[in-house]
Amino acid sequence: MPTLLRLDSSSSGEASVSKRLTTVFADAWQARDADHVVVARDLHADPVPHLPDASLHWPPRLRAADAPALPEADATQREVIDQLLAADVLLIGAPMYNYSLPSTLKTWLDHVHVPGVTAPFDGDTQPMRGRTAVIVTTRGATYDEGSPTATWDHVVPPLQIVLGEALGMRVEVVVVTRTLSTSVAGLAGERGAFEREYTAAADELRRLALALD
Ligand SMILES: Cc1cc2nc3c(=O)[nH]c(=O)nc-3n(C[C@H](O)[C@H](O)[C@H](O)COP(=O)(O)O)c2cc1C
Repeated sequence: MPTLLRLDSSSSGEASVSKRLTTVFADAWQARDADHVVVARDLHADPVPHLPDASLHWPPRLRAADAPALPEADATQREVIDQLLAADVLLIGAPMYNYSLPSTLKTWLDHVHVPGVTAPFDGDTQPMRGRTAVIVTTRGATYDEGSPTATWDHVVPPLQIVLGEALGMRVEVVVVTRTLSTSVAGLAGERGAFEREYTAAADELRRLALALD
């Protein structure tokens, strides 16, 4: 059963642009045939708790001898990792909040990046290697190449480094900017550009949903 793990992290409910776009991908994935399944978690509605102790960045065998025993947190982390390992494709809705990831998504990332389990440390451990992560990232403003804010995006780089470099996944990024043009009167002039980006993003996500396995 080809399984898509869909994670959303917007706090905007029905108005969320990233959720509309992850829905486009998930619907196209499911429409392929009855075998294509979607496992979904909305990290805003159903957040993963913060790691209660830094030792959880490591598997038990690599923790310091005086690390606290945290069986509940270990079990939660194992569940989050197992859900990722069961996914053939990972889809993430990642809005920009203060130039960065929503904290709910960052916490999910903290759970799944574990050297020696999901990333190489004392061996070539990279169980997600070669699988694809599709990042759908939305932002109110623009961070175009060559503009004064071109380096302000701190959403995509950590996802690319953790999922791409550490976990060895192939990372596809779909970006939609100017989303606030639909709700902020002073930005209404940007609306045409936003709508063109949205349509192109939806087309690209439908294409990816049919092409990936
Ligand atoms: C708490 C918060 C912080 C935000 N910070 C930024 C920001 O730093 N840069 C930006 O361009 N837009 C920012 N925005 C706007 C969102 O990125 C924009 O509304 C985007 O569409 C959110 O994704 P969503 O539509 O899926 O909810 C912020 C929105 C919120 C709620």
